Amino acid sequence: MPPVVEIRNIAQFAGQEVVIQGWLYNLRSSGKIVFPLIRDGSGIIQGVVVKSAVSPQVFEHARGLTQESSLRAAGKVRADARAPGGFELDITGLEIVQYVPIERPYPITPKDHGIEFLMDHRHLWLRSSRQRAILGVRHEIIKACRDYFDDRGFTLVDTPIFTPAACEGTTTLFEVGYFEDKAYLTQSGQLYNEATAAAVGKTYCFGPTFRAEKSKTRRHLTEFWMIEPEVAFAHLDDAMALGEGLVAFVVERVLAKRRSELKVLERDVAKLEKVVPPFPRLSYDEAVKILQGKGSEIQWGGDFGGTDETLLSEGFEKPLLVHRYPSQVKAFYMAPDPARPEVALCVDMLAPQGYGEIIGGGERIADEKLLVERIEKEKLPPETLGWYVDLRRYGSVPHSGFGMGIERVVAWICGLEHVRETIPFPRMLYRLTP
Ligand code: 4AD
Ligand code: MG
Repeated sequence: MPPVVEIRNIAQFAGQEVVIQGWLYNLRSSGKIVFPLIRDGSGIIQGVVVKSAVSPQVFEHARGLTQESSLRAAGKVRADARAPGGFELDITGLEIVQYVPIERPYPITPKDHGIEFLMDHRHLWLRSSRQRAILGVRHEIIKACRDYFDDRGFTLVDTPIFTPAACEGTTTLFEVGYFEDKAYLTQSGQLYNEATAAAVGKTYCFGPTFRAEKSKTRRHLTEFWMIEPEVAFAHLDDAMALGEGLVAFVVERVLAKRRSELKVLERDVAKLEKVVPPFPRLSYDEAVKILQGKGSEIQWGGDFGGTDETLLSEGFEKPLLVHRYPSQVKAFYMAPDPARPEVALCVDMLAPQGYGEIIGGGERIADEKLLVERIEKEKLPPETLGWYVDLRRYGSVPHSGFGMGIERVVAWICGLEHVRETIPFPRMLYRLTP
């Protein structure tokens, strides 16, 4: 039996007999020759079945192949400069693993389907070249994030998903039954990161986070993945530098390793190649002035909406670091600027080309008294946050960190219209299936 090989490794087998196992992507035929396009998850290769060179049974099987029927094809690998991947498979043996009957064909055809239809068939849509490219880039982004922190002495410490309290405001909490009691799905691992940063110095967590977002926008999911570093003895500027380094590293890695996927996605890579440090830094005050100059209704003290973020990042080719927002629009744990207590030592990173906020974070309140005041002011249940205040009682230190939403970064790097394509099975206001 010839070896079973992956299409991605096909070049190593030029001139040899191999077996490819996969699915039929497309079929062309011209009477005496059939050209099945086979995908195996690692790539796509064109097969060639010549009637005069194979048994009648193999030829009939090949000619009758339907889209997405699963198969094993045996044959010799032949270099062909005209073939898309540089190689073709001269098929001599063909086994159909599961035949998709003509009466119940694969529902997704090359014709234009509406987005709702595709989302309803997400479990199958993922097989398309475009979706596979996105999955590949997403994988690379996640791997790059982990490498970035792992190579810099960070310890990955997992944080819980069932939590007793809010981290990012009580309006977007998902409540779930917890035996006789109730719990909330985590909005962020940050509060726990603050505990573990005091244990290991530099930590990060990476996992799913949940927000009951009632807004139906192209940037919001109800379940999204966030990578969150937290560093003891770090200030706002350190968090900004860390985020800048992370984003530049991730973009560089994708450019180095995922060119072919970016090509499938028709991403303008010249724009990504410009994403090198230093990134521009802008205070909230300056940002408000720029926005007003561009006709926005924003007043000092208000939070930026999606449109403001898009307007602001226009004219910048790199991600933009906007720091020191008014404390009133930010979460309870944000440290006030000692020089100007009405603003917080926080930062949002806005991606270029209108992709909006990809990072949010900053310096945390280190003082026990101030933290307790903020918890009271926000009417957060103190009994669930006692442990968090404890961190300010036993060796409190300045500390900072941030969260980066993976889906927002995937959308930006891939150049996608909407975050729904950035995650295998998106969860949104009106979508819980498949
Ligand atoms: O700005 P956020 O809410 O910050 C936090 O949760 C902090 N506790 C993180 C920290 O400091 N450790 O969210 C961080 C990032 C945003 O910048 C955005 O990229 C992403 O998470 N994000 C979302 N992504 C998709 N859908 C949503 N509904 C999102 N909400 C936030
Ligand atoms: Mg934010």
